[in-house]
Amino acid sequence: MVHGRSSGCLINFKKFGAKVISLGTLYESRMSYKNRHVISMKDFSRKEIDYILDTAEKLEPVARGEERSRLLDGKIVALLFFEPSTRTRLSFEVAAQRLGGQVLNLGSVEASSVMKGENLADTIRVISKYADLIVLRHPLDGSARMAAEFASVPIINGGDGSVHHPTQTFLDLYTIRRESHLDDLRIAMAGDLKYGRTVHSLCHALSLYGTEMTFVSPPELKMPSEIVRDLQKNKISIKETDSLEEIIGDIDVLYMTRVQRERFPDPEEYEKVKNKLKITGDLLKNADPNLKILHPLPRVNEISPEVDATPHARYFQQAFYGVPIRMALLALAMGVIE
Ligand code: CP
Repeated sequence: MVHGRSSGCLINFKKFGAKVISLGTLYESRMSYKNRHVISMKDFSRKEIDYILDTAEKLEPVARGEERSRLLDGKIVALLFFEPSTRTRLSFEVAAQRLGGQVLNLGSVEASSVMKGENLADTIRVISKYADLIVLRHPLDGSARMAAEFASVPIINGGDGSVHHPTQTFLDLYTIRRESHLDDLRIAMAGDLKYGRTVHSLCHALSLYGTEMTFVSPPELKMPSEIVRDLQKNKISIKETDSLEEIIGDIDVLYMTRVQRERFPDPEEYEKVKNKLKITGDLLKNADPNLKILHPLPRVNEISPEVDATPHARYFQQAFYGVPIRMALLALAMGVIE
């Protein structure tokens, strides 16, 4: 049983006994997560990220259902999803429930007062009165940061526009750490690097680890130049290409992404590029035997089904890692562990 402040006592990760009294003691300076919004990876230092990954690892047995926890007993997590989602929405729901918390789900936007013209600021002000934390997904760039201005409880950004998806990045980093290695990593990010918010957040986070990055995309879907410039400023080694074949033998992780049809202003442009890159069994014949393939999912056509059965495919395991990561973020933001 993992205990926390909600049950009236200090954290006691009992099973770690002598090794860990409080996670905070792992570091020389204490970091504060209580009531902190999670909006962008740019708001987190490497030390803070590592601490969140460590916390998730401690909570993994609870995420698997092997241990029980009441850390979030009496807490209510509101889910406000203004865009479709399977993994982010459901893994937050599972994370809250596995920790003994409850979930308040706005449900479909069509069934809410947004349809009567209520704006996001008022919606956030009201839900702040009902819940202890709000998870928000919204199609507009910057909406999570704006919501945080009006919230009296922590906001966790579940993806806003094409810019940020920090909880996905935390789980991507966690997957890389669990399935490969974060130190001296050689990663290729492939697919829709223009509109894919997961790769934008991931680039920034991996720059803190000195990762070697290769960007693979058709010319129309290249990584935005401001992100490339930021990475270059931080002396990160970058290569750009449109060929998976060219780089498949020289990387530890291949992070594949879907072409984001919903963000194309012109559907004809989407049709032109949608099938340009694909991971197949043939491509993998030249891969490093330890190569791990990640994908934030959902996938469309960019990974052939035959790849799923290979030891390279880690994307379904990656989706599971969203649960311990989101448990850690909920528990830290609500101050039930520190
Ligand atoms: N990876 C991800 O954000 O998936 P969903 O859109 O299903 O939440």
